[in-house]
Amino acid sequence: MAVAIAHPNIALVKYWGKRDRELNLPATGSISMTLDTFHTRTGVTWDTEHDVATLNGQVATGHVHERIFRHLDLITPGRPPTRVVSENNFPTAAGLASSSSAFAALTMAAAAEAGELFSPERLSELARQGSGSACRSFWGGFVEWRRGIASDGSDSHGTHIAPRDHWDLRMVVAIVDDGPKKIGSREGMIRTMETSPMYQAWVASAASDLNQARQAILERDLDALGRAMERSTLKMHATMLTSDPPIRYWKSTSVWAMDAVEKLRDAGVSAWWTMDAGPNVKILCRPQDAERVARRLRTLIDKVVIVGVGPGPSLLEDAER
Ligand code: PMV
Repeated sequence: MAVAIAHPNIALVKYWGKRDRELNLPATGSISMTLDTFHTRTGVTWDTEHDVATLNGQVATGHVHERIFRHLDLITPGRPPTRVVSENNFPTAAGLASSSSAFAALTMAAAAEAGELFSPERLSELARQGSGSACRSFWGGFVEWRRGIASDGSDSHGTHIAPRDHWDLRMVVAIVDDGPKKIGSREGMIRTMETSPMYQAWVASAASDLNQARQAILERDLDALGRAMERSTLKMHATMLTSDPPIRYWKSTSVWAMDAVEKLRDAGVSAWWTMDAGPNVKILCRPQDAERVARRLRTLIDKVVIVGVGPGPSLLEDAER
């Protein structure tokens, strides 16, 4: 059995919308930070009679099963029956980017079981087809997924902006709700693309957010990065909210958390919020401010975790499995 560990990433400049649905090619580029603390650990073995996947102790069925094994067919066409065992040490499908670490770990373990020595770019390109955001989990630190222009997707994979030790930051994760979301990102994106009058404006304005965020990361300018991240987040949610029927991932508690972050900023703390396809709020700040931010958030939300900048994925040696 080949075993891989991958960490989720949180988008600082968001991906929402596709230029090719089949290949999961994005309409815009995106930029992310890889997290430490949270991870997915996935084992893949060909030493089995049937295709079976166990996710957090439960056998996968229906479309979840199909999605996993279709992805394995892509990595190794004509593969033998395969067994997958995967565990997350954090809530699944709750807007905490679990699909990013899940498809990164699955892709890496499956390639290793097949004896393939793919480059990180090739692994990233393969993982992208399982879940777009997974293509950004192949590096630690700060990663950009370029939109690319090739119709076969060969230029649409993660690229490294800066390693983990370039900038010591924290993300304070406020878990408003750890249940699975009602509308998955794939369905949500399609509805947004087809119905939101804001969608074209979102696509057209992405390049300037990407440029500002990339520059801010290279210069370690948290205020500039935070502004670009909040702007990108608000624009993405504006397209969701103006879809028909609307998609609203925010809960009242999420908005209280945003207010709290703004108040901290008024008090001189460089803290910036973001949200994805779920109600949870993640706050980017300096290490020395993380406890203060977490304390403030804990007055509103029970589960608040501080995470740092994480590493890229790894394959486990026999002794560690
Ligand atoms: O690639 P997916 O299906 O996990 O979609 C990710 C969508 C967001 O998390 C909302 C934004 C992003 O760039 O990660």
